[in-house]
Amino acid sequence: MRTASERRELLKAVYEGARECTRCPLSQTRTTVVFGAGNADADLMFIGEAPGANEDRMGLPFVGQAGKLLDKLLAEIGMERGDVFICNTLKCRPPDNRDPHPNEIEACQDYLRRQVDLIEPTVICTLGNFSTKLLREDTTGISRLHGHEEVRIIGPRAVRLYPLYHPAAALYTPSTLEALRTDFHRIPELLALGPPEQPEQSEPIPELDDPADPDEDEDEDEEPSTRGEPEPAAQLGLF
Ligand code: URA
Repeated sequence: MRTASERRELLKAVYEGARECTRCPLSQTRTTVVFGAGNADADLMFIGEAPGANEDRMGLPFVGQAGKLLDKLLAEIGMERGDVFICNTLKCRPPDNRDPHPNEIEACQDYLRRQVDLIEPTVICTLGNFSTKLLREDTTGISRLHGHEEVRIIGPRAVRLYPLYHPAAALYTPSTLEALRTDFHRIPELLALGPPEQPEQSEPIPELDDPADPDEDEDEDEEPSTRGEPEPAAQLGLF
Protein backbone atom coordinates (compact mmCIF):
# COMPACT_ATOMS: atom_id res chain seq x y z
CA MET A 1 0.00 0.00 0.00
CA ARG A 2 1.45 3.37 -1.02
CA THR A 3 1.51 6.35 1.34
CA ALA A 4 -0.33 9.55 0.39
CA SER A 5 2.90 11.32 -0.42
CA GLU A 6 4.15 8.43 -2.57
CA ARG A 7 0.91 8.57 -4.54
CA ARG A 8 1.23 12.29 -5.01
CA GLU A 9 4.83 12.07 -6.21
CA LEU A 10 4.02 9.26 -8.64
CA LEU A 11 1.02 11.16 -9.95
CA LYS A 12 3.13 14.26 -10.44
CA ALA A 13 5.58 12.21 -12.49
CA VAL A 14 2.74 11.00 -14.73
CA TYR A 15 1.58 14.59 -15.10
CA GLU A 16 5.07 15.70 -16.09
CA GLY A 17 4.89 13.24 -18.99
CA ALA A 18 1.29 14.11 -19.88
CA ARG A 19 1.89 17.83 -20.11
CA GLU A 20 4.17 17.26 -23.08
CA CYS A 21 1.95 14.68 -24.70
CA THR A 22 1.66 14.64 -28.49
CA ARG A 23 -0.09 11.29 -28.79
CA CYS A 24 -3.06 12.74 -30.65
CA PRO A 25 -3.85 15.82 -32.74
CA LEU A 26 -5.49 17.61 -29.79
CA SER A 27 -1.96 18.49 -28.69
CA GLN A 28 -1.89 20.98 -31.55
CA THR A 29 -5.03 22.86 -30.54
CA ARG A 30 -4.99 22.72 -26.74
CA THR A 31 -3.76 25.56 -24.55
CA THR A 32 -3.07 23.37 -21.54
CA VAL A 33 -3.17 19.72 -20.61
CA VAL A 34 -5.87 19.33 -17.98
CA PHE A 35 -4.50 16.38 -16.10
CA GLY A 36 -6.85 16.42 -13.14
CA ALA A 37 -6.97 17.95 -9.69
CA GLY A 38 -7.65 17.08 -6.12
CA ASN A 39 -6.51 14.66 -3.51
CA ALA A 40 -4.11 12.00 -4.76
CA ASP A 41 -5.12 9.89 -1.76
CA ALA A 42 -8.88 10.18 -2.37
CA ASP A 43 -11.33 7.32 -1.94
CA LEU A 44 -13.65 8.97 -4.45
CA MET A 45 -12.80 9.84 -8.01
CA PHE A 46 -14.89 11.61 -10.66
CA ILE A 47 -14.20 11.16 -14.35
CA GLY A 48 -15.80 13.54 -16.83
CA GLU A 49 -15.58 13.81 -20.58
CA ALA A 50 -13.03 16.39 -21.70
CA PRO A 51 -11.90 19.89 -20.81
CA GLY A 52 -13.96 22.77 -22.18
CA ALA A 53 -12.80 26.29 -22.95
CA ASN A 54 -12.49 27.42 -19.31
CA GLU A 55 -10.65 24.28 -18.30
CA ASP A 56 -8.32 24.56 -21.29
CA ARG A 57 -7.47 28.11 -20.28
CA MET A 58 -7.01 27.45 -16.58
CA GLY A 59 -5.54 23.96 -16.69
CA LEU A 60 -8.02 22.65 -14.11
CA PRO A 61 -11.01 20.33 -14.54
CA PHE A 62 -14.63 21.40 -14.08
CA VAL A 63 -14.13 25.11 -13.49
CA GLY A 64 -17.21 26.28 -15.46
CA GLN A 65 -20.93 25.97 -14.77
CA ALA A 66 -20.87 22.17 -14.71
CA GLY A 67 -18.07 22.38 -12.15
CA LYS A 68 -20.10 24.75 -9.98
CA LEU A 69 -22.90 22.21 -9.97
CA LEU A 70 -20.43 19.47 -9.07
CA ASP A 71 -19.20 21.59 -6.14
CA LYS A 72 -22.77 22.16 -4.99
CA LEU A 73 -23.61 18.47 -5.09
CA LEU A 74 -20.40 17.65 -3.24
CA ALA A 75 -21.34 20.16 -0.54
CA GLU A 76 -24.76 18.55 -0.23
CA ILE A 77 -23.06 15.30 0.77
CA GLY A 78 -20.63 17.06 3.10
CA MET A 79 -17.63 16.92 0.80
CA GLU A 80 -15.46 19.33 -1.14
CA ARG A 81 -12.93 19.15 -3.95
CA GLY A 82 -10.10 18.58 -1.53
CA ASP A 83 -11.68 15.27 -0.57
CA VAL A 84 -11.84 13.86 -4.09
CA PHE A 85 -9.88 13.57 -7.31
CA ILE A 86 -11.48 14.95 -10.48
CA CYS A 87 -10.27 14.33 -14.01
CA ASN A 88 -11.51 13.61 -17.52
CA THR A 89 -11.43 10.90 -20.13
CA LEU A 90 -9.50 13.26 -22.41
CA LYS A 91 -6.85 15.50 -20.96
CA CYS A 92 -7.00 18.01 -23.82
CA ARG A 93 -9.90 20.06 -25.14
CA PRO A 94 -11.52 18.94 -28.39
CA PRO A 95 -11.97 21.99 -30.63
CA ASP A 96 -15.40 23.64 -30.30
CA ASN A 97 -16.21 21.20 -27.50
CA ARG A 98 -17.05 18.46 -29.97
CA ASP A 99 -17.36 14.89 -28.75
CA PRO A 100 -14.11 13.00 -28.18
CA HIS A 101 -13.05 10.88 -31.16
CA PRO A 102 -12.27 7.17 -30.64
CA ASN A 103 -8.61 7.65 -31.59
CA GLU A 104 -8.29 10.41 -28.95
CA ILE A 105 -9.85 8.24 -26.26
CA GLU A 106 -7.55 5.40 -27.22
CA ALA A 107 -4.47 7.64 -27.19
CA CYS A 108 -5.36 9.17 -23.81
CA GLN A 109 -6.61 6.19 -21.84
CA ASP A 110 -3.21 5.18 -20.47
CA TYR A 111 -3.16 8.37 -18.43
CA LEU A 112 -6.56 7.69 -16.94
CA ARG A 113 -5.71 4.08 -16.15
CA ARG A 114 -2.47 5.16 -14.53
CA GLN A 115 -4.34 7.74 -12.45
CA VAL A 116 -6.80 5.10 -11.24
CA ASP A 117 -3.94 2.73 -10.51
CA LEU A 118 -2.04 5.30 -8.42
CA ILE A 119 -4.98 6.85 -6.57
CA GLU A 120 -6.61 3.48 -5.79
CA PRO A 121 -10.11 4.92 -5.24
CA THR A 122 -12.86 2.90 -3.62
CA VAL A 123 -15.60 4.52 -5.70
CA ILE A 124 -15.29 5.90 -9.23
CA CYS A 125 -18.14 8.07 -10.46
CA THR A 126 -18.10 8.21 -14.22
CA LEU A 127 -19.86 11.36 -15.39
CA GLY A 128 -21.75 10.82 -18.63
CA ASN A 129 -21.35 8.44 -21.50
CA PHE A 130 -17.70 8.67 -22.48
CA SER A 131 -16.01 7.68 -19.23
CA THR A 132 -18.77 5.17 -18.46
CA LYS A 133 -18.38 3.37 -21.79
CA LEU A 134 -14.60 3.42 -21.58
CA LEU A 135 -14.33 1.97 -18.08
CA ARG A 136 -17.15 -0.53 -18.56
CA GLU A 137 -15.81 -1.51 -21.99
CA ASP A 138 -19.40 -1.62 -23.18
CA THR A 139 -21.64 0.63 -25.23
CA THR A 140 -24.60 0.73 -22.81
CA GLY A 141 -25.60 4.36 -22.35
CA ILE A 142 -25.76 6.47 -19.22
CA SER A 143 -29.54 6.79 -19.16
CA ARG A 144 -29.76 3.04 -18.49
CA LEU A 145 -26.82 2.82 -16.14
CA HIS A 146 -26.92 5.92 -13.97
CA GLY A 147 -27.29 5.24 -10.27
CA HIS A 148 -26.45 1.53 -10.60
CA GLU A 149 -23.20 0.70 -8.84
CA GLU A 150 -21.21 -2.36 -9.79
CA VAL A 151 -17.88 -3.86 -8.86
CA ARG A 152 -15.50 -3.72 -11.81
CA ILE A 153 -11.88 -4.71 -12.23
CA ILE A 154 -9.96 -1.72 -13.53
CA GLY A 155 -6.27 -2.38 -14.04
CA PRO A 156 -5.11 -4.54 -11.15
CA ARG A 157 -7.89 -3.59 -8.72
CA ALA A 158 -11.58 -3.94 -8.08
CA VAL A 159 -13.49 -0.66 -7.64
CA ARG A 160 -17.09 0.34 -7.10
CA LEU A 161 -18.02 1.92 -10.40
CA TYR A 162 -20.94 4.30 -10.11
CA PRO A 163 -22.12 5.94 -13.35
CA LEU A 164 -23.82 9.33 -13.01
CA TYR A 165 -25.32 11.77 -15.45
CA HIS A 166 -22.86 14.42 -16.56
CA PRO A 167 -23.46 17.68 -14.62
CA ALA A 168 -23.46 19.63 -17.90
CA ALA A 169 -26.48 17.62 -19.04
CA ALA A 170 -28.19 18.36 -15.74
CA LEU A 171 -27.73 22.11 -16.17
CA TYR A 172 -30.40 22.28 -18.84
CA THR A 173 -32.79 19.46 -18.00
CA PRO A 174 -34.54 19.55 -14.62
CA SER A 175 -35.39 15.83 -14.64
CA THR A 176 -31.73 14.99 -15.29
CA LEU A 177 -30.70 17.23 -12.41
CA GLU A 178 -33.16 15.50 -10.13
CA ALA A 179 -31.81 12.08 -11.13
CA LEU A 180 -28.21 13.25 -10.73
CA ARG A 181 -28.96 14.64 -7.27
CA THR A 182 -30.73 11.47 -6.13
CA ASP A 183 -27.86 9.31 -7.39
CA PHE A 184 -25.25 11.65 -5.93
CA HIS A 185 -26.77 11.46 -2.48
CA ARG A 186 -26.04 7.72 -2.41
CA ILE A 187 -22.28 8.26 -2.72
CA PRO A 188 -21.65 8.31 1.07
CA GLU A 189 -23.42 4.97 1.37
CA LEU A 190 -21.13 3.47 -1.29
CA LEU A 191 -18.02 4.93 0.30
CA ALA A 192 -19.07 3.47 3.64
CA LEU A 193 -18.98 -0.02 2.12
CA GLY A 194 -15.20 0.34 1.79
CA PRO A 195 -13.14 -1.22 -0.97
CA PRO A 196 -14.66 -4.26 -2.68
CA GLU A 197 -13.01 -7.64 -2.39
CA GLN A 198 -9.84 -7.58 -4.45
CA PRO A 199 -8.87 -10.14 -7.07
CA GLU A 200 -6.38 -12.70 -5.80
CA GLN A 201 -3.90 -12.28 -8.57
CA SER A 202 -3.56 -8.92 -10.11
CA GLU A 203 -1.70 -7.94 -13.21
CA PRO A 204 0.18 -4.67 -12.72
CA ILE A 205 -0.58 -2.25 -15.52
CA PRO A 206 2.42 -1.58 -17.73
CA GLU A 207 4.47 1.56 -17.33
CA LEU A 208 3.47 4.42 -19.58
CA ASP A 209 5.33 4.63 -22.86
CA ASP A 210 7.00 7.79 -23.92
CA PRO A 211 4.14 10.29 -24.10
CA ALA A 212 5.26 11.57 -27.46
CA ASP A 213 3.63 9.95 -30.46
CA PRO A 214 5.88 6.98 -31.21
CA ASP A 215 5.24 7.41 -34.94
CA GLU A 216 6.43 10.96 -34.96
CA ASP A 217 10.04 11.86 -35.53
CA GLU A 218 11.74 13.60 -32.66
CA ASP A 219 11.90 17.30 -33.39
CA GLU A 220 14.15 19.15 -31.02
CA ASP A 221 12.70 22.52 -32.01
CA GLU A 222 9.09 21.61 -31.48
CA GLU A 223 7.67 23.23 -28.37
CA PRO A 224 5.04 21.19 -26.56
CA SER A 225 1.93 23.20 -25.90
CA THR A 226 2.22 23.89 -22.18
CA ARG A 227 1.60 27.64 -22.22
CA GLY A 228 0.30 28.96 -18.97
CA GLU A 229 -0.05 25.55 -17.35
CA PRO A 230 -0.14 25.53 -13.59
CA GLU A 231 2.62 23.72 -11.81
CA PRO A 232 1.90 20.11 -10.88
CA ALA A 233 1.21 21.06 -7.29
CA ALA A 234 -1.66 23.30 -8.40
CA GLN A 235 -3.20 20.64 -10.58
CA LEU A 236 -2.94 18.04 -7.92
CA GLY A 237 -4.04 20.34 -5.11
CA LEU A 238 -1.72 19.29 -2.35
CA PHE A 239 -4.20 18.68 0.41
N1 URA B 1 -16.98 18.89 -18.73
C1 URA B 1 -16.15 17.85 -18.53
O1 URA B 1 -16.46 16.72 -18.85
N2 URA B 1 -15.00 18.10 -17.96
C2 URA B 1 -14.62 19.29 -17.57
O2 URA B 1 -13.54 19.40 -17.05
C3 URA B 1 -15.52 20.35 -17.78
C4 URA B 1 -16.68 20.13 -18.35
